[in-house]
Amino acid sequence: MTLPVRNRALTVAGLALAGLLAGAVPGATAATAEPATAEPAAAAAPDIPVTAVKQHLTDLQSLAAANGGNRAHGRAGFRASIDFVKAELDAAGYTTTVQQFTYSGTTGYNLVADLPGGDPDQVIMVGSHLDSVTSGPGINDNGSGSAAILETALTVARTGHQPSKHLRFAWWGAEELGMVGSRYYVNNLPPSARSKIKAYLNFDMIGSPNPGYFVYDDDPALEKVFKDWFTGIGVPTEIETEGDGRSDHASFKSAGIPVGGLFTGAGRTKTSAQVQKWGGTATAFDRCYHSSCDTTANISDTALDRNSDAIAHAVWTLTSGTTTPPAGKVFQNTTDVPVPDNGAAVTSSVDVIGITGAAPADLAVGVDIVHTCRGDLVVDLVAPDGTVHNLKPYSPSDSADDVHATYTVDASSQTAAGTWKLRVQDRARYDTGYIDSFKLTFP
Ligand code: TRP
Ligand code: ZN
Ligand code: CA
Repeated sequence: MTLPVRNRALTVAGLALAGLLAGAVPGATAATAEPATAEPAAAAAPDIPVTAVKQHLTDLQSLAAANGGNRAHGRAGFRASIDFVKAELDAAGYTTTVQQFTYSGTTGYNLVADLPGGDPDQVIMVGSHLDSVTSGPGINDNGSGSAAILETALTVARTGHQPSKHLRFAWWGAEELGMVGSRYYVNNLPPSARSKIKAYLNFDMIGSPNPGYFVYDDDPALEKVFKDWFTGIGVPTEIETEGDGRSDHASFKSAGIPVGGLFTGAGRTKTSAQVQKWGGTATAFDRCYHSSCDTTANISDTALDRNSDAIAHAVWTLTSGTTTPPAGKVFQNTTDVPVPDNGAAVTSSVDVIGITGAAPADLAVGVDIVHTCRGDLVVDLVAPDGTVHNLKPYSPSDSADDVHATYTVDASSQTAAGTWKLRVQDRARYDTGYIDSFKLTFP
């Protein structure tokens, strides 16, 4: 391995800088003198050192140079890029998974990295495509997003930031062939895992040499997180319009997951009004878009720096739980309960305490049952006073696996406090399973 290893002194200098610059970040608390490691979960994000982001770009360019000049799907330079990013994340303590897929007869890869911890039911995902086109090393498209989220992930680990939500990063394969990797990932998520992803943030081309500052106009709350940050540093933004849905966020959006992201422009020409606003010239945002000249020379350090810091801000803000309303009071039983084949009903219970008065009209009942034929099952919620709410009837024509669902129950004529039961009975022979989890959420 001849990869240049990031110099240790640089890392330490970056951290010291982070502490000093914290006061300049919009939304920073008064306690800016505290080291990053001692800050509470809701603290302002540290500065992401752009020198470290640029070092990742240099590394990616070296990998392209050593492998035929590109990092495209199906080429050695792509696999080398995956291995490089994975090694950095493994060393930082992430749990990494390489997901393999096949496209046009060639093997592709997605790299997924989970930070251990955080609420597993609330996942914040951050992703960038790691593949280039075949014509060049793909440093702005999309080494820039890939390197910025890598350094953000490493900064999370380095500072010991413990998000209250679960944080997951991803580097996609074969985006340039039509968002193939991200679509494969989303399509292969079990429905229960899909519904746990509360936001997906996408970064594709964030260091364009003649940059604009574009924010995806999609989920309003996510859009606001970015807009507010740029307002705080005095940089005007515009809504991204150069091909809505032209990157991996489209895969998540079509699965109903809220999406957001940043972009500095591709082949489109900067208008004179945009030159007034952002500087630069009335030429393409990226004159090397999809060309061999998309190298480390094709990067605006200022744009890369601002966008990297904006990413860290969004990650800190969204994972600390301050931007979405509290999830309510949750009572859960995750002890497995076997359901006897064609036999007696069994139950899983939760004891609700600390809530006075009536249960809500929109009690959320989370049910996870692993079973080889869910049609066999009758599933009821039994209130503390014995009232039975049927959640799922016996349905012999439904031979699908498993029940993974959240039912909304009007329980307003029962009191909240007491023992609630999930009751499951298997009414047909042969197929079997178990209650995996039972959860009540009081709004
Ligand atoms: N992903 C596109 C590509 O690789 C680049 C692009 C064009 C883009 N328009 C966009 C990315 C808008 C994000 C948003 O060709
Ligand atoms: Zn591209
Ligand atoms: Ca059965």
